[in-house]
Amino acid sequence: MTPNRRDFDVLIIGAGGAGLNAAVQLADAGHKVAVVSKVFPTRSHTVAAQGGVNAALGNVDSDHWHWHMFDTVKGSDYLGDQDAIEFMCREAIPTVYELEHKGVPFSRLESGRIYQRPFGGQSRHFGKEQASRTCAAADRTGHAILHTLYQQSLKARSHFFTEYFAIDLLQDGEGAVAGALVMDIATGEPLFIHARATLLATGGCGQVFRTTSNAHINTGDGMAMVLRAGLPLQDMEFFQFHPTGVAGRGMLITEGARGEGGYLVNSEGERFMERYAPHAKDLASRDVVARAIVTEVREGRGCGPEGDHVLLKVDHLGEKVVAERLPGIRETSKIFLGIDPAFEPIPVYPTAHYVMGGIPTDRFGRVVAPARHGPEEVVPGLYAAGECACVSVHGANRLGGNSLLDILVFGRLSGLDILEYLGENPHQRHVDSASEERAMERFRRFERPGDGVSVAALRAEFRKVMEDHAGVFRTEEIMSEGVEKVKALRERLDEVRLQDRSRVFNTARVEAFELENLVDVGMAIITSALARRESRGAHSRPDYPERDDRNWMRHSLYFLEGDQVDYKPVRTRPLTVESFPPKERVY
Ligand code: FUM
Repeated sequence: MTPNRRDFDVLIIGAGGAGLNAAVQLADAGHKVAVVSKVFPTRSHTVAAQGGVNAALGNVDSDHWHWHMFDTVKGSDYLGDQDAIEFMCREAIPTVYELEHKGVPFSRLESGRIYQRPFGGQSRHFGKEQASRTCAAADRTGHAILHTLYQQSLKARSHFFTEYFAIDLLQDGEGAVAGALVMDIATGEPLFIHARATLLATGGCGQVFRTTSNAHINTGDGMAMVLRAGLPLQDMEFFQFHPTGVAGRGMLITEGARGEGGYLVNSEGERFMERYAPHAKDLASRDVVARAIVTEVREGRGCGPEGDHVLLKVDHLGEKVVAERLPGIRETSKIFLGIDPAFEPIPVYPTAHYVMGGIPTDRFGRVVAPARHGPEEVVPGLYAAGECACVSVHGANRLGGNSLLDILVFGRLSGLDILEYLGENPHQRHVDSASEERAMERFRRFERPGDGVSVAALRAEFRKVMEDHAGVFRTEEIMSEGVEKVKALRERLDEVRLQDRSRVFNTARVEAFELENLVDVGMAIITSALARRESRGAHSRPDYPERDDRNWMRHSLYFLEGDQVDYKPVRTRPLTVESFPPKERVY
């Protein structure tokens, strides 16, 4: 069977904030844009972002993008590229105003200006006092942004392939990317989409871990496609555990709860963050707060019958503040815990939330080729933006409120750069037949009949291995064991069977593809983590407790072939201001 083929100027895989902000730029300019999404676009994970988007608007107190830049560099534990960080922090301001003008219903201050709340790791005057920089639509900011961008994309006439799953990238004979093979989930039919430029905006991979704030769809699909195309993933060892997930379940309780004045207590009723971060306390950077919670529990000061969580208190804020500013987490707590946070504390524990690493790009969203094949080069026709990409603006630890910012700034910028690229590349590239055949081979991968390993069982086993062996604290011994376990699981993927295909939904096929993606991305995380012998940001090794700038101030690059890890330098020079040199990171 030869699959049907459709031709577009641009193929965007993923319909979250990054993909849609790029689509709007391109479709508005009159280009034929295909947006492929495995779920209905407004179910993309951007919808789950709660607390807000950072921009130094200065609506509450005076603020400056340079202070935002300082906080982001410090938050990244000096691993972020300072040129990209400067760019993002400057662009934050026009980006938020553009969103406002596109119709995002931000919450408002008395003055009528956009509401801004304090978030972790934010400061004014280069670390001196807490800033209020996070622009919010109550605690449903991502929802407000995603729906607005979807409406704008429809208005601009992007073509949506809704509930299509991307199988693999298509390349020409020289490795330039020229589209992808996708599967219509409803019919199970394959479809080649050829395009002059392809943007990966497939989001994160939180499903790698058993307890996560991430939706079921966050399976690292774009990252795994890149690995299979022979390209590396950067800085995958840096995975953020959000301090406040619903204990035992993982759903997000926004940092905005602490931004509004909430605080954490242990079983002794102590506000323990005062010991770990005397200045910023509960609004220290996320890696710091997550480690503090795990330490409290490990040292026997956890709450509940099992002593396995701490409590987040917002009940002192009053029902009006909780109802107006935190309605989403109130609903989550009622549904999943049967408690009303306006009157009772919320049991919380760190939850896998965000991958700082991803597909290496420059700040225009262009995917860059491996340094080990000579000087870094742009991969023609391939772009990446949002959580699947690594620009790198988050380094070893992302600040809350910088992820919505990242997807919006770099989604938009990718769109604008693709516009130029299309001008310079007016013709469709010739897709190599071997590349199409490889993609079709993968498409047929799980069609074999017979009994075998169940996807659900393997997925559950894998996610537990990752949680046990690549969590908040990691040692050589724990991770080495984890690497061996993941390798063994990877081999068992060949035994996966979907039983009687006549009775199997195509969603089961999608889950098998997703599992393969998860395992490849999980291997990237744990292998890169094992290789990095220092503690930096979210990568915390009790056996190497110090940050080691002399040996490890460099980005990792993981390659699927041979599970190799290579390195490249951090870009420490900003665009127009002085660098922030590495310092001890205290909050
Ligand atoms: O806590 C939160 O609302 C999450 C925000 C973020 O990850 O940026």
